[in-house]
Amino acid sequence: MDSFVISGGARLAGTITVSGSKNAALPILAVSLMTDEPCSFRNVPVLRDVQTQVKILNTLGVESTWGRREVRTRVKDDYNSTAPYELVKQMRAGVCVLGPLLAKRGECSVSLPGGCVIGERPIDLHLRGLAALGAEITLESGYVKAKVPKGGLRGAEIYLGGKAGSSVLATDNVICAAVLARGTTVIECAACEPEVVDLAHCLISMGARIDGAGSPRITIHGVKKLKGCDWTVIPDRIEAATFLIAGAVTRSPISVVGGRPDHLMAVIDVLRQMGVEIKRSGKPTSRTNVMTVVPTDRLRACEVTTLPYPAFPTDVQSQIITLMTLAEGTSIVTERIYPERFMAAAELKRMGATITVANGQAVIHGTGKLSGAQVMASDLRASAALVLAGMAAEGETRISRVYHIDRGYERIEERLGRLGALIKRTADEAVEPASAGG
Ligand code: EPU
Repeated sequence: MDSFVISGGARLAGTITVSGSKNAALPILAVSLMTDEPCSFRNVPVLRDVQTQVKILNTLGVESTWGRREVRTRVKDDYNSTAPYELVKQMRAGVCVLGPLLAKRGECSVSLPGGCVIGERPIDLHLRGLAALGAEITLESGYVKAKVPKGGLRGAEIYLGGKAGSSVLATDNVICAAVLARGTTVIECAACEPEVVDLAHCLISMGARIDGAGSPRITIHGVKKLKGCDWTVIPDRIEAATFLIAGAVTRSPISVVGGRPDHLMAVIDVLRQMGVEIKRSGKPTSRTNVMTVVPTDRLRACEVTTLPYPAFPTDVQSQIITLMTLAEGTSIVTERIYPERFMAAAELKRMGATITVANGQAVIHGTGKLSGAQVMASDLRASAALVLAGMAAEGETRISRVYHIDRGYERIEERLGRLGALIKRTADEAVEPASAGG
């Protein structure tokens, strides 16, 4: 297991380019199950989660080859339609093969994704949506067994809202199943996230008929079959947000290239409230557009609530808390998607932050500074928050278990290193101080 050793306080300079979106790539790769023709997916980030998804597809009879940030696929046999526990337990997004498999093969068995450190993550909405299309679903020995009834899946009107509102991957699963169902499906309370829109547009390029993606009501007119695709995945808005906050915490005017500012309105607005302006140039959709951080020495406290898109994303909640620890005054973060997702807070406290967490809310008393400490990464976004904290802190920070960050950020230490950050990757044993056991 690797650790990062970060020497805090370095000012950053230069440009950093945003990778393809992990959360768009994962469900999009699964559409390769829905056609007999070859598919090509570009701008795919080289990440552990993506590699796991490709392994799941391989198990399901999809042949794949990697090019430079490109995955080419073709279904070579459709005999095995079981997505096994060993792979799905590694990554919740494994569950997004369910809709595509059911739609194309008529029968499948997908392991339940299992527990998750960021809190309870049920799949009841996925199952309710697929059942509304007529799927016969049972749960057996930790697996979802789903079967298309005689006569096939039928379009339906489906309300897909849960206790926290819309669901990204449930919307993806139901869209995929409805694309090959008979008749028209209307999904009400659909997730509006850009990743869902990207999936819908990819499916449309394959011959699907989908209207309204990006709005809470999506209408799908079923088609008989889909052709292959050549699809370029959107840039990762969460990675882009993390880089903007990297500029803010280190008070450095770095430029983030090729992100989508139009996908980041809520984050840019919160940064502005805290005193950090983001200068934009170029068309928001162009791969060469630039967002430049105009840093400040006097960060202001702020109130943030995480909600589904277009509101402030839960996936940037930990990173913004790091910034709040450096602000003047008391900030409040209310987490409405995963009320228990405050794993970074305890570790930030080890670095001198004053944070109280209760009932899905964190109250952060900004002290203006952090100090280096030994901390542990516990999930993907909490790890990113600790990397940001380490860069801002006085002295040295050691973050163990950084494999979490490799799930969602491609070689982050090298890329931030090119901007001037002092981050060294090292094997855990090598960085234990001599007195560790004493
Ligand atoms: N929910 C239910 N029932 C369901 C599904 C979801 O009650 O059947 C609830 C969840 O418990 C949560 C809320 O609905 O309270 C929203 O969850 P959602 O289903 O939208 O999450 P997801 O689709 O499983 C994706 C991202 C997450 C991101 C969330 C929210 C992928 C692969 N994952 O998960 O990303 O936090 O949407 O935006 O797209 C990450 O990248 O670090 C990450 C966790």
